[in-house]
Amino acid sequence: MFTVKLSSEAPELIEAPALATWVFEQSNPLDGPLAELDQKAGSRLKELVEAGELTGKAGETLLLHYPAGFKTQRLLLLGAGKPKKFSPAIDVRQLAGLATRFLKARKVTEFTFWLGRDHATPEAAQAVVEGVLLANFDPASYRTNGKKEKPVADLQLVGFDAKNEKEVAAAVQRGQVIAEAQNFARELANEPSNRLTPRLFAERATAMARDAGLELDVLDEARLRELKMGALLSVAQGSAEPPRLVVLTYTPPTWKHGQPILGLVGKGITFDTGGISIKPSDGMEKMKYDMAGGATMAGAMRALAALKPAHKIIALIPLAENMPGSRAQKPGDVQIAMSGKSIEVINTDAEGRLVLADALTYARQLGATHLIDAATLTGAVVVALGYVNVGTFGNNQKFLDAFLASGRAAGEKFWVLPVDDDYRDNIKSAIADIQNVGKGRGGGATNAAIFLKEFVDDTPWIHLDIAGTAWLEEAKPGMAKGPSGVAVRTLIHFAEHFSPDA
Ligand code: BES
Ligand code: ZN
Ligand code: ZN
Repeated sequence: MFTVKLSSEAPELIEAPALATWVFEQSNPLDGPLAELDQKAGSRLKELVEAGELTGKAGETLLLHYPAGFKTQRLLLLGAGKPKKFSPAIDVRQLAGLATRFLKARKVTEFTFWLGRDHATPEAAQAVVEGVLLANFDPASYRTNGKKEKPVADLQLVGFDAKNEKEVAAAVQRGQVIAEAQNFARELANEPSNRLTPRLFAERATAMARDAGLELDVLDEARLRELKMGALLSVAQGSAEPPRLVVLTYTPPTWKHGQPILGLVGKGITFDTGGISIKPSDGMEKMKYDMAGGATMAGAMRALAALKPAHKIIALIPLAENMPGSRAQKPGDVQIAMSGKSIEVINTDAEGRLVLADALTYARQLGATHLIDAATLTGAVVVALGYVNVGTFGNNQKFLDAFLASGRAAGEKFWVLPVDDDYRDNIKSAIADIQNVGKGRGGGATNAAIFLKEFVDDTPWIHLDIAGTAWLEEAKPGMAKGPSGVAVRTLIHFAEHFSPDA
């Protein structure tokens, strides 16, 4: 259980295992509320500044035990970098995450975060709660040797007036819903493929939908066949594990027929061997997270069920295991997608676009008027953007701009890449309507996007290639290495602010 208490007490009077706050990198890092306190405490902190031990550089941590003038057992000072660049949504979350990872590594599982008078806003309170919970996530979920770190369980926030207590409490609640949704997505992406097959993913989604109060439909193989989802079925046919298509629906009480529906589609390949176009064994274990896009959408829906936005939202997660079994599809095979388009499968490792093609078609059949998909789709996006930005594509500038604004608000990074029709020739096939890989060497992430575009027609659509960002190769100050849950927060923000006239 995670508890949050709010307090308006003076920080020096707080009795806690630890009190964390931040200092900026500036000529005097103690400028601000700490200066006053330090004077009372005999300028001990000032001595540390003069000695160069406390600079305020981003990521810096300085832990003081039984600091003079304070009642707390420990004072943790966090470097916040230059004040000009400071934003609550990004920096406060990261600082709270940094404090959490620092303290829990030292077995401190209860702490107080002091926001300072100027920054004690509901937005910052939300950011602290998110930062703590995201930093609490531990990917070592199958470790049995008792060495697992205990998460931070009790958080106190100080600096608030009693005046805005209600708003702050609501913001704390929001922060918890959002971070838990992101952690849910991370948990799924972290599961090994033997413990998260398409059927098991569907079971987890079913349990989540029941708890969250979402409508749910799980389509089995027979129904996928009835719907003629030839592209999705072709990916699954090489595996003994049958495919599934999970459909989650959130309907606001005021929704009426004909009103816009936001459709979220997430790639759910529970393991990607590449199929007959098999991948090299080096690093193949990572292909357990090839369902991260599906996990992202499941996570976003979990939060939206609680946050209750004004519009109807559906999420579709096509689930399959891409295996080179004896019934596997082979390079050169032609498949007929649900939309009726014929696809020449040149490379069985370009399977994500195949399962997404049918899910996008079905989303439109279910009434989606706007579409966003998320997928660990291409190695090429990693070549283009590395591990920092999500490769972002769209066919409607207004829709895309609104999404990018949500990304900034949620503190996540998206970089737009092209999908204009000049790339269309790259996927021309000699035998079918299109082929599943592009010709030529470059532009692999765009070729994948242009393939998806064939299945959305004029529906406003955004495609997120999260192959480089769904998994952190290195820990960040506030996040363990492993699954990141990227885009969950942005999608939640976007769905809450969705204005369909785009
Ligand atoms: N799942 C992979 C993409 C991927 C790569 C995800 C690295 C995460 C990290 C996808 O199915 C794939 O194999 N794509 C191929 C496409 C190619 C055959 C056109 C790729 O990018 O190599
Ligand atoms: Zn693949
Ligand atoms: Zn894949």
